[in-house]
Amino acid sequence: MNTNEFRRRRLQLMRMMGPGSIAILPSAPVAIRNRDVDYPYRPDSDFHYLTGFPEPEAVAVLIPGRAQAEYVLFCRESDPEKEAWNGKRAGQEGATRDYGADDSFPIGDLDDILPRMLEQCERVFYAMGCNADLDKRMSEWVGAIRDKGRAGIQGPLEFIALDHYIHDMRLYKSRSEIKIMRDAARISARAHMHAMKVCRPGMREWELEAEITHVCASAGARFQAYSPIVGGGVNGCVLHYVDNRDELIDGDLVLIDAGCEIDYYASDITRTFPVNGCFSPAQRLLYELVLSAQEAAIVEVRPGNHWEDPHQAAVKVITKGLVDLGLLKGRVPTLIKNGAYKKFYMHRTGHWLGMDVHDVGDYKVDGTWRLLEPGMVMTVEPGLYITPGSKGVAKKWQGIGIRIEDDLAVTKNGCDVLSKDVPKTVEEIEAIMAG
Ligand code: GLY
Ligand code: MN
Ligand code: MN
Repeated sequence: MNTNEFRRRRLQLMRMMGPGSIAILPSAPVAIRNRDVDYPYRPDSDFHYLTGFPEPEAVAVLIPGRAQAEYVLFCRESDPEKEAWNGKRAGQEGATRDYGADDSFPIGDLDDILPRMLEQCERVFYAMGCNADLDKRMSEWVGAIRDKGRAGIQGPLEFIALDHYIHDMRLYKSRSEIKIMRDAARISARAHMHAMKVCRPGMREWELEAEITHVCASAGARFQAYSPIVGGGVNGCVLHYVDNRDELIDGDLVLIDAGCEIDYYASDITRTFPVNGCFSPAQRLLYELVLSAQEAAIVEVRPGNHWEDPHQAAVKVITKGLVDLGLLKGRVPTLIKNGAYKKFYMHRTGHWLGMDVHDVGDYKVDGTWRLLEPGMVMTVEPGLYITPGSKGVAKKWQGIGIRIEDDLAVTKNGCDVLSKDVPKTVEEIEAIMAG
């Protein structure tokens, strides 16, 4: 992403904020895995969206119309000794030279400088409840300004949820964001195809995970957007299964939900295929039902339709299919109305996708489902999960978990399936696995 795009976003936000406002946005803290070991650092997505600044211990401040500097970045100082251990820091010089800040101060000076900026503004844009340390300091700063009332200092009058503004911007992806997301989906697609080719009974789930992450990392995507799910047999019925430690059994299906991250943008793809390369008749029937539900949902992804349309289409196909297969009994409209399908399909058909795998953006506006518009990116991911021991369910269906998930960008006339490179019909999957 080039620095101009970050700048454009800051300008857009500042236009919405108007003069007399201040926005304060911290990056994410470093997460500790265990003693002396940190997780690889990942900036907060909102912070990254506006700054592109990759280091921890940073706070961005935007003050539209301020003469000296509208964009101020507080970040770590250069420190040759610390940099010898943990790598280069931008410092104040790099913050202005490389990241477009109009001015920059050491993060340690935040308590001295920020209150003086705050007391000159009427409106504060800040995401309360996301960063306990900064929340506490904010309330101390604002309290101290209030105490200066008799000296004629008024301070902020209004507090506004900054996250809501940024999330609405993030929901509409630019051309360059969609390009990155397409690249991420293409790499993940290659990884899923590779997993189909190398899968053999007797492998461990983590071995397939390793094949996936190897393909992604070799293509430049070092990080996955979330922990990959590789669930053989009944493990495919566990929606957020990440243990990935069981043996893959001849005759079972394996469900892989994995997507890499490129330049902080996620892909999110699921495919389900037979461990031995051939669907059994029962697996095939359920698989093709999920696939028709997914196809019906994808048709509904177009401008003018609302967020709920693809889900309703998937639910209709799945419920009718479950009745045809004898897994549900009754009238389809009644079974939809009373949610009977949720016994086997208990999640929704998708979510927004972007820098976060479950990306930001409201699904409802003024109480009604949001209309789909070009630039929105979402997943479509129906599934069926027949857990063993399900009452009244014939043995042949039990332990089958299936999900098929693709990433879609809404376009002017419909949608573009970013993850279309991974095949999903029974014939295509069996052909790849036989080859
Ligand atoms: N991988 C998480 C999801 O599909 O929502
Ligand atoms: Mn998903
Ligand atoms: Mn997924």
